[in-house]
Parts: sequence; structure tokens; C-alpha cells
Amino acid sequence: MTDQETTTIRQIAVIGAGAMGAGIAQTIAAAGWPVTMIDVDDAAIARGTRTIAGSLDRIVKKGSLTADAADAVRSRVTGTTDFASVAGADMVIEAAFEDESVKRDLFRRLDAACQLDTILASNTSSISITVLAAATNRPERVIGMHFFNPVPVMGLVEIVRGARTSDTTYALTESLARSFGKTPVAVNDYPGFVSNRILMPMLNEAIVCLMEGVADRDAIDTVMKLGMAHPMGPLQLADFIGLDVCLSIMEVLHHGLGDDKYRPCPLLRQMVAAGKLGRKSGEGFYSYAQR
Ligand code: 3HC
Repeated sequence: MTDQETTTIRQIAVIGAGAMGAGIAQTIAAAGWPVTMIDVDDAAIARGTRTIAGSLDRIVKKGSLTADAADAVRSRVTGTTDFASVAGADMVIEAAFEDESVKRDLFRRLDAACQLDTILASNTSSISITVLAAATNRPERVIGMHFFNPVPVMGLVEIVRGARTSDTTYALTESLARSFGKTPVAVNDYPGFVSNRILMPMLNEAIVCLMEGVADRDAIDTVMKLGMAHPMGPLQLADFIGLDVCLSIMEVLHHGLGDDKYRPCPLLRQMVAAGKLGRKSGEGFYSYAQR
């Protein structure tokens, strides 16, 4: 297939059944597509399926979706541990663990397992699309599709063009994001793209304020909620995103841009080392009752 030819997307696969992968799969199914959600073990698939069920229940309770429509969404999501099932997909959206070598390896395996014209998208929050594309033999068909948590609620998708992403791949991905009900925004492939280049230094600085005793946790969050109309304070948002994810994005910014203004806060490093990862581990800047 040459880049001049058009592609029709009929089947989409999502790699990863975590909060982002499940949210992406739900969003795709809600837009009417059959979607395969792939992860390494049954427990991960079961967790992802529960995440989708919980989110749909919430929307049904709110009255913006009927129970039958929610069932239809659920029925369009197939969870599997069979990686080879990507062979049937016209588009794969990778939402695996945020680690460059893990993702590079996944892209190499996807390139080998998928049809030649399948588009390989990554939901990476900061890792270079150009680097991931270089692990494949189809760099023109590799692109970033960066969703935001909670995916069913947040309206944005950052569409990240790698150095060799083709116009056809870009146009197809952009129109797909629109058909998911999202607003696509084009950005180029620089560390952290636009979203995390701006967001993460702010969250990191809030942690520096806490560490230096500029104010306590609640004061810092209240300032940003009431003073700047942010829906969550920065420490609450860092917990929501995951402190390990925040640290890994700060490392990408620091390393990739080579400027000490992106230095991860020592308190952030310490909390991650202590296993305090935020909401998902039950403790971060706040405590969360274990589910
Ligand atoms: N599934 C479906 N619906 C959900 C949901 C979910 N998982 N979570 C929340 N909702 C819905 C609620 O039903 C509610 O809908 P309504 O307004 O129509 O009634 C609406 O979202 C608001 O939810 P709540 O009233 O329960 O709670 P809040 O008003 O506190 O909103 C929030 C929750 C939407 C998470 C809000 O606090 C928020 O926008 N927080 C900031 C989130 C954010 O910044 N996300 C981006 C993180 S960065 C990222 O993801 C990029 C990565 O690379 C790091």
C-alpha cells in the first residue's frame, strides 16, 4: 500500500487495559466501532472491563445514556490476551506502560504482526513518536494520539506528527478523533508535546512549593482551584494522573530538553520510591480508601 491510497478504518485494537486503554476502548465503542482491548493477562482485562462498566454505569445514572445503549457499547468491546489478534486491525492505539524501551519493543512487535497498511498510534504522554516509528518499517504510518484522563469526559486529543508521519496518516487519524467526539489538535514531536510541556512543570512546581513549605497541601490546591478555576488542585491532579507517570514525564522533559528548569522535584522522586503513586496505590499527597 502506498501513502497515496486511502484507508478505511473498520476495526480498531487498543493495547493496554489500564485507565487510559479502557477509557480509549470505551470511547471508540461508544462511537460505534467494534474494538479489541489487548493486555498481557486475564486480570488486566478484567480490570479494564470493570473500568468500562463503572464509567458506563455512571453515564447511565446521569441519564445521558440508556441502559440498552450502554449494553451495546459494552458488547462492542472484546477483551483478549491474544496479541496476534492485532492482525485484524486497521488501526492500533497503543496505551501501554509509559516506558520508552517497552513501547519501542511493542512497536517492533506490532509492525511484525499487523497488516502493512495498519496505522500504529501511540497514546504516549511524552515519548518521541519519531523514536517509536524508527522501531518499525512503516514510520509514515506511525503517529501520536494522546488522550486525556478520564478519556470518556475529556474533549481533547493531541495528534502528534513524528518526523516521518505522512499527511494521509495525519488526516485519517484526525478525522478518526473527530468521529470519536473529540477535538483534535495538531502538535509536533518535541518532548512532552504541548500538553505535558506546560502541565507537568506546573504540577512539579506545586510539589516544590509543598516541599519548601511555601504552603500546605490544601492551601496549594485551593489557590489553583479557586484562584485559577482549575477543576482539581495540582497535587490532587498529580495523584489522579499517577506520581510515577508525572516523574517519568518530567524525566523525559529534563533529558530531552536538557534544561534544569525541568528537574523533577526531589519530593516527587522520594514519593515514587516509597510506592506512594497517588490514587492508584491508595496514597499520594492524599489518602484514598482502597477499593
Ligand atoms: N467516566 C464517565 N464519566 C465520568 C467519569 C468517567 N470515568 N469521570 C467523571 N465523569 C463525569 C461525571 O459523570 C460528570 O458528568 P456531568 O458533569 O455530565 O454530570 C462529570 O464527568 C464531572 O464529574 P463529577 O461531577 O463526578 O466530578 P468532578 O466535577 O470533580 O469532575 C473530573 C471530575 C472530570 C475528573 C474533573 O475533576 C476534571 O476535569 N479534572 C481534571 C482532569 C484533567 O486535568 N485531566 C487531564 C489529566 S492529564 C492527562 O491525562 C495527560 C497525561 O499524559 C498525563
